[in-house]
Amino acid sequence: MSTMSGARRSSGVLITGAGGEVGHGLIRALHEHGRTDIIAVDLREMDDEIKGMCAQTFVGDICDKALLARLLSMFEIERIFHLAALLSTRSEYAPERAHEVNVVGTLNLLQLAAEQARSHGGSVVFVYPSSIAAYGIGDPGTKAGAGAVVEDAYLEPTTMYGCNKLACEHLGRYYARHYRQLAQDRVEGLIDFRCLRYPGLISADTVPAGGTSDYGPEMVHAAARGEAYACFVREDSRIPFMTMGEAVEATLLLAGAEREKLTRCVYNVAGFSASAGELAAEVRRHFPDAQITYEVDQQRQAIIDSWPADMDCGSAARDWGFAPRFGMAEAFSEVLVPGVKKRYGV
Ligand code: SER
Repeated sequence: MSTMSGARRSSGVLITGAGGEVGHGLIRALHEHGRTDIIAVDLREMDDEIKGMCAQTFVGDICDKALLARLLSMFEIERIFHLAALLSTRSEYAPERAHEVNVVGTLNLLQLAAEQARSHGGSVVFVYPSSIAAYGIGDPGTKAGAGAVVEDAYLEPTTMYGCNKLACEHLGRYYARHYRQLAQDRVEGLIDFRCLRYPGLISADTVPAGGTSDYGPEMVHAAARGEAYACFVREDSRIPFMTMGEAVEATLLLAGAEREKLTRCVYNVAGFSASAGELAAEVRRHFPDAQITYEVDQQRQAIIDSWPADMDCGSAARDWGFAPRFGMAEAFSEVLVPGVKKRYGV
């Protein structure tokens, strides 16, 4: 494909939010798989490790149309991992900004993908991480009775972030199946939209910023640093979690799945369901001196109470072979504890 100047555009895979937690893990994995054509975008300057693994990096805002136009003219993008977002707690402090970044930003990327696909005559795989935050369960009794929820139930999120994620799941489905459905010159199949709903994620290498499931990773990192930790939700608060490595593996597995096997646009993925108290007990098994207390923040508690205790991952298992690798004990002993010990030199 040529640009207007006649120069050939270089092809590549585009990753937004590249400097974030999932971005780090995903870029490392793609690099290990031998990909040399990673184009990374983040609002902030990316660290040297990320820069070293990418063909090109851009510091900029996904709401900046000029930046997206530049990407469109410079590259032939065949796959997009759109990770950029403001997480759930942060979004509550700036709901309108959250809508801009989380929804308008996603719309911009979907449009870029459609224009890319039109220009190279194929289809662009658009991988979109959604979240457990897309769910909203009204009361604790219903949460307890709901067990592992399927993709299409309890979709009344109470957070701006959850509303944004659910909106984008629908936008992605619209762009994939119905985009410009009344236009005479409509081209079908421009976007191959593939979405996973992550549970709370725990990485040994990075700490999250602005999420509500952050008490999980914060507990683990604080213990390894020898710091006391006051958990902001009750001991009995239960949601599913997954290690970052598994989340990245699942993302790549879905991205590479055969199109014909995908029966839906949105898939749940999760590792293990755990209460804050069970996480704390597991942390103490490995770090016996860990000091974990509970100082409940009622507002953040209400958000966790609205998320399901577990997610049914049957569709992902059937359609593209998703299988979590670790239960809670193995996640700690095989990945998280060795990882944080290495990170903090303990
Ligand atoms: N970890 C995210 C959050 O807490 C959920 O997707 O916002």
